[in-house]
Amino acid sequence: MRHLLSPLDLSVDELARLLDLARDISKDPSKYGHVCDGKKIATLFYEPSTRTRLSFEAAMINLGGQVLGFSEASSSSASKGESVADTIRVISCYADICAMRHPKEGAPMVASEYSHIPIINAGDGGHQHPTQTLTDLMTIRELRGSLDNFTIGLCGDLKFGRTVHSLISSLVRYKNVKFVLISPKELRIPDYIRDDVLKANNCDFVEVENLEQAMPELDILYMTRVQRERFFSEDEYLRMKDFYILDEDKMALGKPDMYVLHPLPRVNEISVDVDNDDRAAYFKQVQFGVYVRMALILTLLGLDTVVNPSLAHVLD
Ligand code: CP
Repeated sequence: MRHLLSPLDLSVDELARLLDLARDISKDPSKYGHVCDGKKIATLFYEPSTRTRLSFEAAMINLGGQVLGFSEASSSSASKGESVADTIRVISCYADICAMRHPKEGAPMVASEYSHIPIINAGDGGHQHPTQTLTDLMTIRELRGSLDNFTIGLCGDLKFGRTVHSLISSLVRYKNVKFVLISPKELRIPDYIRDDVLKANNCDFVEVENLEQAMPELDILYMTRVQRERFFSEDEYLRMKDFYILDEDKMALGKPDMYVLHPLPRVNEISVDVDNDDRAAYFKQVQFGVYVRMALILTLLGLDTVVNPSLAHVLD
């Protein structure tokens, strides 16, 4: 049984195959329109979501399958005290694959221990968000042609931003990727990423506070939202929330071939004026999110080669 709990659950080769499949899907999604006929995905979202839940649901529908689940814990028996373990035992009887978002770090891993179907971590607390990373990797690869040889600035809430933790954990496996970690000191990257991932892999990285100074050297700028829901104090959130605002003036400091990514939702950290800049790639990222989730569903269900024998050379 394969699960996706961490971005490292896929090897670099498996990831390359998955991204190749996602690219093939993007060229003609209708070719894959019946591969999951009769299959069901359960989307169990104990935390709010727009993109992740709906893109998983769109992905399964695009593949010919169906969707069940809940988008608020209050509408499920979790509100009566049912455990994740019992919930997943039940869901395993109803669906073929499950995407789970939960506010507690490690909840999808617990689910995987009781599950008879593949579990996908759709975000666990401030920990990891591996399918956002698949989306980010596809975006970078499609825009730049490669996942090697570039400098990425990750800006904003690096402490609680699970998309940042997963993206760094994945990017350290590629060649010559340099990291510029841009945050206020209160929101710096956690030690388990700085020490156990960046330092342990001998990565080239710096931690800075000033976005303007970092801009000229970046090939990718990955902006993030300050994660209000993870703060203990509303006052502290309010003090941090507008620390960085990417606007046209700051964009003017960036390279002409730099790209701006953001997992979204944004609050105030990217001015809407930037949306018209050709380097703004965050809505392209959203579209890629559907293709990589289609490819992931096929991969975890073991349907990737069945679908398209012409891709066997890529997928075997
Ligand atoms: N990027 C992301 O996880 O967005 P949602 O919270 O809307 O799913």
